[in-house]
Amino acid sequence: MLPDEDGVAAWLRYGALPAEQAAAYSIKTVTVLGSHDETSPVASAVRELVDGVSKILGVTVSLTSDTSSLSTSIVVAIREDYLAAGNTLSASATDFLDHTDGYWVDPQKTLILGSDARGVLYGAFAYLSQLAQGTLSSTPFGSRPRAPVRWINQWDNMDGTIERGYGGRSLFFEGGRVVEDLSRVKEYARLMASIGLNGIVINNVNANPSLLSEECLSQGVKRVADTMRPYGVRIGLALNFDTPRTLGGLETSDPLDAGVVAWWGETTKRIYNHVPDMLGFTIKANSEGQPGPLSYGRTLAEGANMFAKALAPFGGFVFYRAFVYDHHLREDNPKNDRANAAVDFFAHLDDAFDDNVVVQVKFGPIDFQVREPVSPLLARLKRTKAVIEFMVAQEYMGQQSHAVYLAPEWKTILDFDMRVDGRPSLVRDILSPDGPFGWPVTGYTAVVNVGRDTTWLGHHLAMANLYAYGRLAWSPEAGARDLLDEWTRLTWGTDPVVVETVGNLLMDSWPAYEAHSGNLGIQTLCDILYTHYGPSPASQDGNGWGQWTRADQHGLGMDRTVATGTGFSGQYHPEVASLYENIETTPDDLLLWFHHVPYTHVLKSGKTVIQHFYDAHYEGAATVQTYPGRWEALRGKVDNARFEHVGFKLRYQAGHALVWRDSVCRFYHALSGIDDDKKRVGHYTHRIPLATASANVALEGYSPVDARLPEAASNGKAVQTDKDVPGKVTITVDVPQGTYDVAVNYFDTSVGRASYTISLNDKQIGEWSGNLQDRLGHDFSEYLDGHSATRVYFRGISLQKGDVLTIVGQPDKEERAPLDYVSLLPEGIVD
Ligand code: GCU
Repeated sequence: MLPDEDGVAAWLRYGALPAEQAAAYSIKTVTVLGSHDETSPVASAVRELVDGVSKILGVTVSLTSDTSSLSTSIVVAIREDYLAAGNTLSASATDFLDHTDGYWVDPQKTLILGSDARGVLYGAFAYLSQLAQGTLSSTPFGSRPRAPVRWINQWDNMDGTIERGYGGRSLFFEGGRVVEDLSRVKEYARLMASIGLNGIVINNVNANPSLLSEECLSQGVKRVADTMRPYGVRIGLALNFDTPRTLGGLETSDPLDAGVVAWWGETTKRIYNHVPDMLGFTIKANSEGQPGPLSYGRTLAEGANMFAKALAPFGGFVFYRAFVYDHHLREDNPKNDRANAAVDFFAHLDDAFDDNVVVQVKFGPIDFQVREPVSPLLARLKRTKAVIEFMVAQEYMGQQSHAVYLAPEWKTILDFDMRVDGRPSLVRDILSPDGPFGWPVTGYTAVVNVGRDTTWLGHHLAMANLYAYGRLAWSPEAGARDLLDEWTRLTWGTDPVVVETVGNLLMDSWPAYEAHSGNLGIQTLCDILYTHYGPSPASQDGNGWGQWTRADQHGLGMDRTVATGTGFSGQYHPEVASLYENIETTPDDLLLWFHHVPYTHVLKSGKTVIQHFYDAHYEGAATVQTYPGRWEALRGKVDNARFEHVGFKLRYQAGHALVWRDSVCRFYHALSGIDDDKKRVGHYTHRIPLATASANVALEGYSPVDARLPEAASNGKAVQTDKDVPGKVTITVDVPQGTYDVAVNYFDTSVGRASYTISLNDKQIGEWSGNLQDRLGHDFSEYLDGHSATRVYFRGISLQKGDVLTIVGQPDKEERAPLDYVSLLPEGIVD
């Protein structure tokens, strides 16, 4: 039996190689050339090698200064120290070692060289990774990052919560200050370094000005920087534009006001006093109600440049977010389009930004949706540097209660050719100093929501996203599946069955999630006015947020053409613009992003849009039904603790995928009035809706109630008990004799922990509790809706006509043991 693991070691668990493989190595020591203090990444590399090689090979490796037995030693050195010791370098090694952060590893000589201290650390991690995966060959290899900016944005609040955090409380903050114990921050820095990440903005872009108090900087922020520095990770801060007024006591935060300029100058000096290698500042301004330069009649460039000038003496950069848009946009004007905002606000300022301003652009024009085209702004700034912003936090993608591997989606962005000036311009090349714009400072950042949960992200499988993000920021040409297999070998072991199973499941996960949550480019049809988690297609329209679908009884989709729509497609360079302008050449998976069509519009596949919706939602949800069974193949092949943890979540996900499917299909069925050719939508053969009067169903202490969203429950209704009084549902079974899986769909809200028992002919066959809020990390709903709707199974139950099933619900606080329907499913059927 494999020892239980809690996940905190993530992909740095350094699992032991099988003895026969380990025997091929004779490493006993680590030797380091040159002298390096304890805070240098070289010292971290040495510590990591000593620890990692010992664990992987099952031997005791130690650091030595004795250079007489180099044949059994790993030699690590910065290039200069290596050359100073009288060695020479091959041309191939020099290719990598000529670049910042580059490394060169010669496994035969067990030599690890870095162009600089960080390069040594990256080389050590690359060596350890291959050793642990059992993929280390004797051929020398090197690598260097494509881009200098490889960052993380944490959205941590100083009160210890995390905006869009689903993995526990902040590693950095609690109670308005930086936490005392930074040991997890150190572990985080190790994880970051091991995948090549080199920077982190530690606080929420919706920034709290009190971060800049002298106490917080000196007692807290400085310690965070000191903790992460040995791993080559530098920190940055997100600032609130209005701080001169709110913290500084000035009358204004006008970026051209001399007092404001002086205040930021002083404040920046104070920050650098404590953290001399601070990366700079991230600014969210004039966005979602935040103040900014536009509030003072100044341009966005004037706002950004104010910070840039304060930072210039210290070599810092302003990361100015392009997420500027009007969230009170009027949908009744067909020309209005939030997607236009980034280019509208920024493109004309291309000449106006200072040299140390970098515009930070979300990968798509809206907001981390399940599918979006690339933000056109990435091809419209040329002189102004930019970085792309991804999201590892799965805000719109199942919030880490669903396993969704995001790298395949990111690859659709990175591999997209923007055809700038009619020439090849892949996004991943634009984001590199050797790309078409030659930005010396460019690259990647991602919103990450690691928290104190030992899983980091709330779901062991979600860590594949963090791993792939870091590796793609280093090598954006890498393949999503290759990265996934690396991660699996490191995280779950090298057994080929494990690698194959995890790989296949996670490679299916984004297409499946897209299929059941919003396809053809309609965006994630989640509740954008509430938790951003479960389905609520109606919430997209009729409000100022501009994530519109313009769905009505005739059709849906945003007309973003130049000819008849919002003109968004014209923001791309001509070849891409004409691709999207023309409905014939627009790929189906972005059809509804660019075009408004009737439900009966025929796709390239020959199906109508509405039938495609129905089919895709059924197929996507069906794929998710396979996850628990596929995971079961790993029983005994991975440790039990992580196996059970993931198994539970995949079972939950399977149930919730059905909720997604049914809600979205019902919604468009009702709106369009068009039936499903396959007669599934609205016809649920095996279900017994409890709120619908029927001779077979008796309610005692339970009464019907409207679900918050009609499509989220059978016929729009559930049943619930009175407050504090238990209720009972009795079902007289009317099915042929046989073995059935009994599925109960109920609602698990944030407002209580109701409990339930289920009995057959007065004999209890199961029980459960509405306590998912203790077991899952997503944002919970207090209502009966698509967020709280969920399913529990009791499998292999023998039933015959006349049997009596009873469910007794014990309410807790405001959660009144709500139930939707019971399904009696012949084995193998999912309805
Ligand atoms: C999304 C998210 C917000 C966040 C914002 C941002 O809209 O829902 O929580 O503040 O993005 O990126 O600034």
